[in-house]
Amino acid sequence: MQRVIGKTAIVTGGSQGVGLRIASVLAAQGYDIVLLVRRQREVAQRAIAQLQNLGVRAAFWQVDITDRAALRAAMSAIVADFGAPQLLVNNAGASAAAPLLELTDAQWQLVLDTQLTGTFLACVETVIHMKPGGVIINIAGASAHRCYPDAGAFGPSKAGVVNLTAQMSIEWASRGIRVCGISPGPIRDADSNWQLHEPLLAKEVARLPLQRPVSSDEVAQSVAFLASPAAAAFTGQMLVLDSGGLNTWYMTQQEER
Ligand SMILES: NC(=O)c1ccc[n+]([C@@H]2O[C@H](COP(=O)([O-])OP(=O)(O)OC[C@H]3O[C@@H](n4cnc5c(N)ncnc54)[C@H](OP(=O)(O)O)[C@@H]3O)[C@@H](O)[C@H]2O)c1
Repeated sequence: MQRVIGKTAIVTGGSQGVGLRIASVLAAQGYDIVLLVRRQREVAQRAIAQLQNLGVRAAFWQVDITDRAALRAAMSAIVADFGAPQLLVNNAGASAAAPLLELTDAQWQLVLDTQLTGTFLACVETVIHMKPGGVIINIAGASAHRCYPDAGAFGPSKAGVVNLTAQMSIEWASRGIRVCGISPGPIRDADSNWQLHEPLLAKEVARLPLQRPVSSDEVAQSVAFLASPAAAAFTGQMLVLDSGGLNTWYMTQQEER
């Protein structure tokens, strides 16, 4: 892909895991990086050092994406320091898996607040500053498009993100801003020995047509593609990155749960 010069990308929840992989791939392309993190200062500091080693500017702001006033203040400070962002990646997430009849109000609210309201607020508070050519990429999930038993509010909140992506794409097309998303299936990296710790998930993944999870690098490369000029005709759409799961009826057997 073409090297990016003089552009800033904001990644929410980017201090570790999938978010840090996204930030690293973008930094390797030449994006300056701002991470919006909530709690983990030391983890974020290590992430920033890692990103700076790739030869770009990088900084983190500690902000809760569900707090509009805090987000607004953070965005003003970021724009003053880095200039208007050209890319926003909404990666921050929360989950609380439970059968719906057992899900508490607090669990429901946490997941909806983080994944749907947080994405909405981060988008509107960023788009105020974005110039034409800007791109927003929302990380949803395959469970936005199909249901997994006992997944709680995760699917409903991500389904909201899919619709929000489409809604924003039509409202902000006239500003020259594209809004797309990615819906990954289970994200697990090959070197993490995840099958040992998550045997039930391993059985589910074995039923996927490609019989493999998605890697965090594959999510990051998809973000890089959607942000690139090669994807200039994409807006309002989701890339479903799920090893073919959406086209199957595979499901864990009740007795296995
Ligand atoms: N992992 C998977 O298998 C999978 C599958 C499909 C979709 N996804 C989606 O892919 C994305 C990345 O996955 P993940 O498993 O790495 O996500 P995650 O662990 O659920 O969340 C990533 C980060 O979000 C941050 N965050 C949570 N609430 C926040 C808030 N209110 N304000 C600011 N930051 C907040 C957390 O920071 P703190 O630790 O500092 O709180 C955390 O580091 C998520 O959107 C997830 O829903 C993941």
